[in-house]
Amino acid sequence: MTYSINGSETGAVPRPGQCLRTFLREQGTFGVRKGCDAGDCGACTVWLDGTPVHSCVTPAFRARGRDVTTVEGLADGADLHPVQRDFAEAQGFQCGFCTSGMIMTAAKLTPEQRADLPHALKGNLCRCTGYRAIEDAINGVPHVEATRAGASAGHNAAAPGAREIVTGKALFTLDLPPDGLLHMKLLRSPHAHARVIAVDTSAALAVPGVRAVFTHEDAPPVLYSSGRHEHLTDDPDDTRVLDDVMRHIGQRVAAVVAETVAAAEEGVRALVVEYEVLPAVFDPELAMRPGAPVIHPKPAAESRIAFPERNTIAEIHGNLGDVAAGFDEADAIYEQIYHTQRVQHAAMETHGCVAWVDERGALTVRTSTQVPFLTRSALCAVFNLPPEHVRVLTVRVGGGFGGKQEMLVEDVASLAALRLGRPVQLELTREEQFTGTTSRHPMAIWVRAGAREDGTLTALQLRVVSDTGAYGNHAAGVLHHGCGESVAVYRCPNKKVDAYAVYTNTVPAGAFRGYGLSQTIFAIESTMDELARLLHIDPVSFRERNVIRPGDPMVSVSNELDDVEYGSYGLDQCLTLVRDALADSRNSVPAPGPGWLLGDGVALSLINTIPPRGHYAETDVRLLADGTYQLMVGTTEFGNGTSTVHTQLAATALGTTPDRVAIAQSDTALVGHDTGAYGSTGVVVAGKATLLAAQALRQRLREAAAVLTALPPEECELTEEGVVCGSGTMLGLPELHRRATEAGLPVQAHARTDGSPRSVAFNVHGFRVAVRPRTGEILILKSVHAADAGVVLNPMQLVGQIEGGVAQAIGAAVYEEMRISADGRVVNPALRDYHLPQFADVPHTEVLVAKTADTLGPMGAKSMSESPFNPVAPALANAVRDATGVRLTSLPLGRDRVWEALAHAGVTAEDPAGGPAPHAVPGLPEETAVERR
Ligand code: FES
Repeated sequence: MTYSINGSETGAVPRPGQCLRTFLREQGTFGVRKGCDAGDCGACTVWLDGTPVHSCVTPAFRARGRDVTTVEGLADGADLHPVQRDFAEAQGFQCGFCTSGMIMTAAKLTPEQRADLPHALKGNLCRCTGYRAIEDAINGVPHVEATRAGASAGHNAAAPGAREIVTGKALFTLDLPPDGLLHMKLLRSPHAHARVIAVDTSAALAVPGVRAVFTHEDAPPVLYSSGRHEHLTDDPDDTRVLDDVMRHIGQRVAAVVAETVAAAEEGVRALVVEYEVLPAVFDPELAMRPGAPVIHPKPAAESRIAFPERNTIAEIHGNLGDVAAGFDEADAIYEQIYHTQRVQHAAMETHGCVAWVDERGALTVRTSTQVPFLTRSALCAVFNLPPEHVRVLTVRVGGGFGGKQEMLVEDVASLAALRLGRPVQLELTREEQFTGTTSRHPMAIWVRAGAREDGTLTALQLRVVSDTGAYGNHAAGVLHHGCGESVAVYRCPNKKVDAYAVYTNTVPAGAFRGYGLSQTIFAIESTMDELARLLHIDPVSFRERNVIRPGDPMVSVSNELDDVEYGSYGLDQCLTLVRDALADSRNSVPAPGPGWLLGDGVALSLINTIPPRGHYAETDVRLLADGTYQLMVGTTEFGNGTSTVHTQLAATALGTTPDRVAIAQSDTALVGHDTGAYGSTGVVVAGKATLLAAQALRQRLREAAAVLTALPPEECELTEEGVVCGSGTMLGLPELHRRATEAGLPVQAHARTDGSPRSVAFNVHGFRVAVRPRTGEILILKSVHAADAGVVLNPMQLVGQIEGGVAQAIGAAVYEEMRISADGRVVNPALRDYHLPQFADVPHTEVLVAKTADTLGPMGAKSMSESPFNPVAPALANAVRDATGVRLTSLPLGRDRVWEALAHAGVTAEDPAGGPAPHAVPGLPEETAVERR
C-alpha cells in the first residue's frame, strides 16, 4: 500500500517512528507547520480520510492506504476553498504560521461546532491575532473596522501574501531545504552554574551519520551579546558561540551535526561531559549582595557590565526635584511592592535558520529573525568577516514579539557551515524555546507616590530590580525604557528612580513587546488607582488631572527624551472613550448571578513612537519595464503587517494601487540597511523611508516625462496608467520606463530615515469584571481599548494588532508564567503547561481610536503594534480591586492567587473588602504601607 497526499500517490515510505507531520514536510507539503511536538498548537493539522488530526502526534504509518489532505490540497485549481477565501478577506492571520492548521480545522466544522468556536478551536493556537479575526473569517464576515471617532484615512488593503498564506504556499525559513542539508542538535546544560572540564565526543562521532561535534574549543574566542541593537555597545559582551562556563540550565554546551535530525539527536545523547558544579544564585536581590556567586567575572572595561562583582549590568539613579519635599507636601501617600513574572514569547514558529557558504564564498544565513542587518553585523564580528562576505535574509517569519531580536541560532549554525562547507539547519524545539531562548524580564518594583487633597501629584518614586537571567541581552535597554515613559506620562515636579538590571543563574530575559514598560506600568498604574481611592477621587479623573499634555516637559529621569515631540496627542480622547464605553457597559452587559462581585478598572500608557538613539531604514523603489513598481525595504514581515502598509504607502504616493507594487524585503544583499523590525518602527521609520522614496520617484517620473515631452514638470502628473503632460499627452508607464531608460533618466529613487525626532502615542485599557470569591475566578464582562495611533493607514490591520496585543497581555495578566524550580529549572516548558491562551480564554475587546494626525509619522500615522500590551494587566488588577477591595500585586492574576488573596482578606460575595485602604497581600504585609494624613 502507498500513501496518498492531496490525491497523489507517493512511493515514499516513512521511517520507523516518524510522525505524519515530518513525513508530509519531507514530501514537500510545507503548508504543514511545526509549532510543537505535543499536539498542543494545531499548526500541523491535516485531514486523514477527511477528519482533522494533529499530524505531529499521528504516526505516519497510520496514513498508509488512507487519504491525506493538507492545506495545499484544499483549493480547487485557482478557486480557493470558501474558508481559505474568508481567511484571506477577513485577514484572519498576522504572521500566518498557524493559518494552515486553523483552516484545516475550520473547513470541517459543522454548523453546531461553528456555533461553539471556543470548544471547536481548542486544539488550534494563535499567538498573533487574539482570535477575533479568525472568528470573523470562520463566520464569513469581514473583520470589523475600528469604531467611534476613527480617523480612517487609509483602507483595508489586503496583505500582499494573503493567497500564499491561506493556501500554505507561503515560505517560512525552513521550507526551502537546500541540497546536502545537514542538521544540528544541541546538548544543553543540566546545571545552573558549572564549568565544563571535558567533553568526550568519541561516542557521538561514532554514531552513523554524525559529521561533526562542536564544543567551546571550536568556538571563536569572541564575546558578544545575543541582543541586537544598532549600537553594538548597547549590550554587555558576555556570550560566546559555545562557552566553557554554563550559567543557566538549558545553555548550549555542544553542537552535533549529522545527516539527519535523528542521528544528531543520538549524537547529543552520546556526548559525555564532565562538569565542575559552581555555586549558583537565583534571586536578583541576593545576587547583588557581597559574596554572591559572580556570574560574569570579566572586568567592566572589557565587558561593559557596570558592576560585575555584584552581578549588576546596569543601574539607573535619576532624580528630578526633591521627592522628600514632595512627600512632605502630600496629603496622601501610597506605597507598594509589585512583582511581575517571566513570560515566554511563544511565537508559533520556533527559532530556526539554515546557514551555508554560497558559490562566491559568502556565509549566507536564511533565518527567522526580526533583525537581519544586525545579525549580519554580529556574525561579521564573531567570525571576523567583512560585511560583503556575509548575507542574512528572511522569508516569512512566524511571529517574533521581540524574541527574534536576538541572535540565538545563527551563530552556532554558521560556525558549523563555515567549518563543514555544507548547509546546516538548526531548528529549536518548543521546549528549547522555553529553556534556551529569552523571556520577559521579571521585575520587582517598589513604588511610592504622593498627592495633595485636590488630586495633584507631588512625588513619584520607584525602585526597580530587573532579573535578566544568565545573560545581559537587552537588560540595560529594557531597564531604561521600563523606567522611561511609565514615569514620564505623569506631570509631577518630584521624581526619583533607582533601578538595577541583575544577572541570575536562570534562563535569560530579552526584548519582548513593550520592552520593560508593561512591568513598571503595572506597578505605577496600580499605585495611581490606590492614590485616587485614598483621596476619594475617581481614578480616571485623577489621571486626567495629572497626565502630561502638549507643551509639558516630558521627564522620565531615566532615559533620553530630548528628541521627543508632541507630534500629536490623543490621551485625553482615549480616556474619554474608555470611560464612556465602561459606563455604557454597566447598563448593557448582563452581570452573572449571585456569588460574583462587580468592578471597573482603567489604566493608561505612553510610548514614544520610535526607540531612542537612532533607528535607521532605507528604501528603494523603482518603475519596472511592465509599468509596475518594485519596492525594496530592509524591514522584516513577521506578522506586524509592514509589507501591507509599505505597499499602501508607496501606492498612495505613486497614485496607483497596492497590487501594482511588488515588495522585496529583509535581505542584506538586496536592500539597504534597516536597524530592524522592533518598537513598531516598521511603519514609523521604515514606512517613512518608503513614503519619501515613493514621493521622490513620483517627482522623478514627472521630471522624466517633462524632458521627454519638452513640457515643464509642473504640467506633468503621475497617474495610475502613466504620466499625463500638458493638455493630454499621455506617456504610459511601460513607455515611460523604456524611453527614460534609453535617455539615461532615473526611474528609481532611494530614501533613508534615522528615526528622529520621535513622537508620542498613548493607549488606555478598561475592564468591567466579575470576581467570584469562592473560586478566585475573574470573568471579563467588558474589555475596551482606546488607541492613539494617529492616522490609521489600514483599519483592519490596526484593529488586528491591538486585539493581538491585548490578547497576549490578557494571557500574561491571567495565565502565563514560566515557573522556575529552586535549582533554576523551567518546570513548565510546554505550551499546554504554560497555558498559552486558547480561543476560549480571550474575550472580545472593543477597539476605539482617537482622532489624531501626527506631524512626524508617515501620512500622520504612529506606531501601534507594540504598545497595546502595556496597560492591560494594571487595568485588570484595578478592576479586581474595584470589585473586591483587594489589591493584587503579583502577576499573573490566576485563580489560585486571587482566591488566596480574597480569602486572606475575608472577602465574600456578600462582603467585599471595600473602602479606600487596600488589604495587605499575603507574603508582603511588612512591605505594604498606606498612609492617609
Ligand atoms: Fe496565528 Fe501568527 S497568525 S500564530
